[in-house]
Amino acid sequence: MSPSELTSPVIEPLRVDLGERSYPIHIGSGLLSQLGGLIEGLAPSRRLVIVTDETVHGLYGEALAEALSNYTAHIVVRPAGEAQKSMEGLDSVLEAMFKAGMDRSDLLLAFGGGVIGDLAGFAASIYKRGMPFVQIPTTLLSQVDSSVGGKTAINNRYGKNLIGAFYQPRAVIADTDLLSTLSDRELKAGYAEVLKYGLLGDRDFFDWLDAEGGERVLRLDPEALSKAIFISCQTKARIVAADERESGQRALLNLGHSFAHALELDAGYDGDLLHGEAVSAGMDMAFAFSVQAGYCRSEDAAKLSKHLEKLDMPRLSTLGGRLSDPAKLTRFMGQDKKNEAGKITLILARAIGEAFVQKAVPDENVETFLTALSENGLSENGST
Ligand code: NAD
Ligand code: GLY
Repeated sequence: MSPSELTSPVIEPLRVDLGERSYPIHIGSGLLSQLGGLIEGLAPSRRLVIVTDETVHGLYGEALAEALSNYTAHIVVRPAGEAQKSMEGLDSVLEAMFKAGMDRSDLLLAFGGGVIGDLAGFAASIYKRGMPFVQIPTTLLSQVDSSVGGKTAINNRYGKNLIGAFYQPRAVIADTDLLSTLSDRELKAGYAEVLKYGLLGDRDFFDWLDAEGGERVLRLDPEALSKAIFISCQTKARIVAADERESGQRALLNLGHSFAHALELDAGYDGDLLHGEAVSAGMDMAFAFSVQAGYCRSEDAAKLSKHLEKLDMPRLSTLGGRLSDPAKLTRFMGQDKKNEAGKITLILARAIGEAFVQKAVPDENVETFLTALSENGLSENGST
């Protein structure tokens, strides 16, 4: 089915094509109630460990238990929030799994947003050298991005996602009904990653989002939401199938993320700045940097800034004091995973829909750019 033919919230499963590690992405309304059938046969035993957070457990724990009544399930409930992606959070999950006596014939279900997906996925990758797991993403961000592709990780004081593994799930099951309980703030954080797919390689998708799609997605219009999730997952599945371990084009999925990760590390992982909020502003920064470096027309950066402003999304001009220490942010960017031989790698853009990887960006250029932003501010048209 082509995305333009999508008129109903029920969508055929997509596939992440990775040979014997291929898996389906189920997207649609009402999938939680079908979960028992969807996970049938994904592991030898009928024992499950479910990792979730307090918020998701409170909202959907009962519905989940009902859907899984034919399985023996042990549930691990962690507090909500990015702070769980830590050694302490990981240790708590593993400890609960050992206490429950889980083994490699059992199945782990990651039931929550990107934090639970990244944390529980990493736990699955190292528990007794690896057990099968399924992603059941419950936020917009996790349904369009983090649940697909097998990146699992925790943070440490050196930065985001610096300890982790590539470890693919056996399936992704995204029930779009669950998004109805998300706050506006969380929805917008997820929308940043939707927008990313347009900006990195799909001008038509961006144009649709800009014309009407973005507003409709944020209003949870079922048709627009399904289309946005489908196109996002389709793009991600294609990129991951071509470059699972990020030796090439997968890095494009990190558009805006080098700036974002530095802002997040600086803010601390306490909810003050959400990942998707940092990505939203980080993409605005990547376009502004691209204009300044002479790669991109200022009209394209301005179009992005206007789109972000129209939807009241985080952007450069809303960052305020977060840019007040350019040297520190540059140092944080120097610790990013994409860097090579100690030199900063940035994902930049030639236009909306044309991102590229720029290696060996001199630290001085990044610091000069950030200094100009912090001293002069940034107008909405994307130029310093
Ligand atoms: P999150 O998991 O913290 O969820 C956001 C908040 O929404 C939490 O408080 C959670 O309890 C709540 N929530 C979850 N589902 C809900 C629902 N249906 N209704 C109401 N509330 C709900 O954050 P996130 O934005 O989903 O994910 C961010 C994380 O994802 C970051 O750690 C980021 O690094 C990671 N990430 C990973 C990848 C990857 O490829 N692995 C890609 C992008 C982002
Ligand atoms: N979110 C970046 C990736 O999955 O590669």
